[in-house]
Amino acid sequence: MILVQITDTHIEEPGGLAYGRFDTAASLRRAVDAINAMSPAADLVLHTGDLAHHGSPEHYRHFRTIIEDLRAPLFAIPGNHDDRAAFRAAFADTDWMPREGDFLHHVIDGFAVRVVCCDSVLPGQVPGGFCRERLAWLDEQLGLARAKPTIVALHHPPFASGMTGSSSIGLIAGGGELAAILRRHPQVVRIIAGHSHRPYSAVFAGTLGFVAPTTCYPFALETGPERVLSIIEEPPALAVHLWLEDSGLGEPGLVSHTLPLGDWGPPIPLLRNGKKVISTA
Ligand SMILES: [Fe+2]
Ligand SMILES: [Fe+2]
Repeated sequence: MILVQITDTHIEEPGGLAYGRFDTAASLRRAVDAINAMSPAADLVLHTGDLAHHGSPEHYRHFRTIIEDLRAPLFAIPGNHDDRAAFRAAFADTDWMPREGDFLHHVIDGFAVRVVCCDSVLPGQVPGGFCRERLAWLDEQLGLARAKPTIVALHHPPFASGMTGSSSIGLIAGGGELAAILRRHPQVVRIIAGHSHRPYSAVFAGTLGFVAPTTCYPFALETGPERVLSIIEEPPALAVHLWLEDSGLGEPGLVSHTLPLGDWGPPIPLLRNGKKVISTA
């Protein structure tokens, strides 16, 4: 099973540039092309939020015109830049969008790994949070399939990044309760998030937490006392989560990669089926 995670695409209106500089639509097109070119093909693509820069219906229409070329099925959860009502309307024709309820959480079944997709948005705020209703929903969903390897996805990382330019932890409410739920469900093989616009990982509540890189403008790794938040022209990227039947000790497991987006030229094979293709001497 191959799950591609994209996040923080920050799509503007057609022709618009984020911060007057970043063509986020072109970045998303590059991501779509890279995913479509994968061999073996991705089984599914999950967007972990901030699809749109300002969450307007026009931004979501623009997002969908770009993403319609994607060959793998797309699933998504909202981030702090998204608007729940516009987001729900934009994906009302999908079978994963909840038809009712306040929150846009859902479960992806039918693959080797189950994906429980959470809604961590607090409207009008940059950080996220979990209320009792969302925590109860997550606990219930995890309780339904205790033997199935599971990824928990949300927009806001529940663990510290060490980046001092904005709040280091993405969640301002419910993090402790979330950790307690995860500790009761050891089938959770990964908790995946976005929001930080650069990749990192940390142990959280007995599982591995992984934050995916943005497809558009990365934030610089600023960890000093000046608390600077800045954008940097590092390559955008996406994440590729591979479910391996043998992850090293004869048991299945999940491995998570990042794939930079850009024109790097074609791969230069050194070995094929264990045989040298070109001399490395
Ligand atoms: Fe973002
Ligand atoms: Fe965000």
